[in-house]
Amino acid sequence: MSGEFAAPKGVPDYFPPASADFLAVRNALTDAAHRAGYGHIELPIFEDTALFARGVGESTDVVSKEMYTFADRGGRSVTLRPEGTAGVVRAVIQHGLDRGQLPVKVCYSGPFFRYERPQAGRYRQLQQVGVEAIGVDDPALDAEVIAVADEGYRRLGLSGYRLELSSLGDDSCRPQYRAALQEFLLGLDLDEPTRERARLNPLRVLDDKRPAIREATAGAPLMIDYLSDSARDHFDRVRGHLDRLGVPYQLNPRLVRGLDYYTKTTFEFVHDGLGAQSGIGGGGRYDGLMGQLGGKQELSGIGFGIGVDRTVLALAAENVSVAGDPRVQVYGVPLGGAAKDELVALAARLRDKAVAVDLAYGDRGLKGAMKAADRSGARFALVLGERELDAGVIEVKDLRTGDQQEIALDSVVDHLAARLAGDPATE
Ligand code: HAM
Repeated sequence: MSGEFAAPKGVPDYFPPASADFLAVRNALTDAAHRAGYGHIELPIFEDTALFARGVGESTDVVSKEMYTFADRGGRSVTLRPEGTAGVVRAVIQHGLDRGQLPVKVCYSGPFFRYERPQAGRYRQLQQVGVEAIGVDDPALDAEVIAVADEGYRRLGLSGYRLELSSLGDDSCRPQYRAALQEFLLGLDLDEPTRERARLNPLRVLDDKRPAIREATAGAPLMIDYLSDSARDHFDRVRGHLDRLGVPYQLNPRLVRGLDYYTKTTFEFVHDGLGAQSGIGGGGRYDGLMGQLGGKQELSGIGFGIGVDRTVLALAAENVSVAGDPRVQVYGVPLGGAAKDELVALAARLRDKAVAVDLAYGDRGLKGAMKAADRSGARFALVLGERELDAGVIEVKDLRTGDQQEIALDSVVDHLAARLAGDPATE
């Protein structure tokens, strides 16, 4: 590390060429959502602190330990968004989107902030692509949301992941289950912080990774055995749809999500090549969130958040390269001032034709400039010196084959556009 400043602890930078993978992942995931009718939504990076406290839940780690909260200059308590669902529901209520066509289907991407202990795959500024479908409580929609995430991963070429699925029940059965679990947990010999957690948020105890707690809770009651008829029917239908869609899943009755708003279907995509931070995406249905955030209608919603950073890491762990595209298609090598004037203008004409072009700036010799051309990933180098300029031609070198041709300057734009047709477009 060098220099006086570094990015904040636990915050990754993405820069070329690796940033092309980041963009490719984000685009593949948002494209999958757009193909299923999810429209783009752009929301604030910070919101009223109370929105998250109430929406995500006071007793969650996210709210109680991980939020970036501060008073703005007007004395309002604001928080850098730790997740996207609460903000989407807030916007749906604020703008009356729930009075239009239902479900409201939106997709978002961007940074989220959690003050977690940094480690591989766990960042304090993390990137997600998320979708939310609000207003229709239809198991087919649960399956669609899951299938969109699965399609996004598959299109990227990811294969070493699995989908874990569960149901957290609803108002008609969750309170009974919670009470049964609490009674079971409080009957165990637990340390005081764990007992306190069992009192506040008993489900979280099932997520404890310590072997002793795992062993002690092995026989804990499971939500899946407490589902009411309607919650079970919903879950069975989701499973039927997933089977028909060919999306494989494993039931995980101990699946615990870190946010409080979930009801009914919950799921997580897990990748085994990532070590401890194996969750590459997750989500579920939320029946009560809209009511909790002050909505007049209590509409149910379902969505996912996919970790872009972790998906990039998962692809790297599988040795899958998603951004094979070169940064530019053509690289200009001017030899002398007059040649540079001409190439600067030619580059603009090529870019007008959607050809991606870069030039050797500064006064580099032929050797250094050709090296830069090779490194740029371009398919063609354009070499222009005084001799060519006088003759009204330019040297076009195919950097893959080494072939070289002299082309008339006034036809080189069409010549290149034709030869590049069919080459992959650049980011
Ligand atoms: P979440 O499970 O908290 O859900 O986060 C979604 C994904 O974001 C995780 O599966 C993980 O890939 C990524 N992620 C979370 N924290 C970090 C971190 N510290 N570093 C790197 N990646 C991370 C939600 O946020 C819900 N809003 C998802 C949802 C939408 N549920 C319904 N609708």
